[in-house]
Amino acid sequence: MSKTYNIAVIPGDGTGPEVVAEGIKVLNAAAGKNGFALAYTEFDFGGSRYLKTGETLPDSAIAEFRKFDSMFLGAIGHPEVKPGILETGILLKIRFSLDQYINLRPVKLYPNVETPLKDKGPEHIDFVVVRENTGGIYTGHGGATRVGTPDEIATQLMVYDRRTVDRCLKYAFELKKKRNAGNPKYAAKPITLVHKRNVLTHCGDLWYRAFEEMGSASYPELKRDYNHVDAANMWFVKNPEWFDVAVTENLFGDIITDVGAMIQGGLGVAAGGNINPEGVSMFEPMGGSAPKYAGQKVINPMAAIGAAMMMLDTLGEPKAAQQIEAAMIAVMQKMKSQAAGQMGMSTTEVGDMVAGLVAKQ
Ligand code: IPM
Ligand code: MN
Repeated sequence: MSKTYNIAVIPGDGTGPEVVAEGIKVLNAAAGKNGFALAYTEFDFGGSRYLKTGETLPDSAIAEFRKFDSMFLGAIGHPEVKPGILETGILLKIRFSLDQYINLRPVKLYPNVETPLKDKGPEHIDFVVVRENTGGIYTGHGGATRVGTPDEIATQLMVYDRRTVDRCLKYAFELKKKRNAGNPKYAAKPITLVHKRNVLTHCGDLWYRAFEEMGSASYPELKRDYNHVDAANMWFVKNPEWFDVAVTENLFGDIITDVGAMIQGGLGVAAGGNINPEGVSMFEPMGGSAPKYAGQKVINPMAAIGAAMMMLDTLGEPKAAQQIEAAMIAVMQKMKSQAAGQMGMSTTEVGDMVAGLVAKQ
């Protein structure tokens, strides 16, 4: 009997369903090629369902997700829903409840993909951001009082405990070790902690000490570096070739990975994984629901295909993941642009071509 992976699929809103369909097409091609199978169960959570039923994501869904091998998400976001409801009610609820404590976001510029950075090519832009995904300001500690009066007060605390910091750092150090072993180009570069310890003297100090202690005790062979987050954003633009693995707390990771997405060719190609190394992970294209492009088959599915590739790699199918990447690279060469509406082909054609090349390898 061949192995079957059970995948929970949340196509979500806007262009989510269109890009997820292409991701699944490519997943199926890779499965057929590599002697495993994928069984999908679709869930209709998202803005449209919320508008109809008032429900974001019931606890029973979390219990169900736990039974899957992995999850594949399109996009959550609806122009008619007030910001914050779907984000906290669906996306963050899944990340927190399933303890997906790593948000892994590769920043890799593929050949023939346009970057807004002058004089930079694929040899300069090839790193990963390890974003802590369950702590920090995102925990929602704090509150508001005297709301609506001139004396209104609002707080939202950056919350970190040593265990949460350590487990994220351990993942990042292990990843760095693995990358170094596979490629001397990566081995020459440091693992970089990104924070703001010149101002955030408590949280920054916790992260910095934990980073130094773990690095010197368990990974002395790995070069370590530290950047303040504002400077890291600057170096991502000016000298992206300095980076290999950058590890950071939740909000800083959110912010710097949008810069990362842009320098690797935009949201049409940027993918990420919400990873629980001991549990159920969820993979998603980084672009949102892009409602203005929905239903036109002009959205770029490459980011969703990249997310599918990351999913297979995490499930323990690295060969299938490599085949997908090779096919993506070949198809990107044929596309006019990675921007929605400017690809020179439709969403479906991109997916068909990648799937076709995977099957041919
Ligand atoms: C992301 C998004 C989310 C985040 C939002 C939609 C809650 O920006 O995945 O980067 O802030 O993490
Ligand atoms: Mn973001």
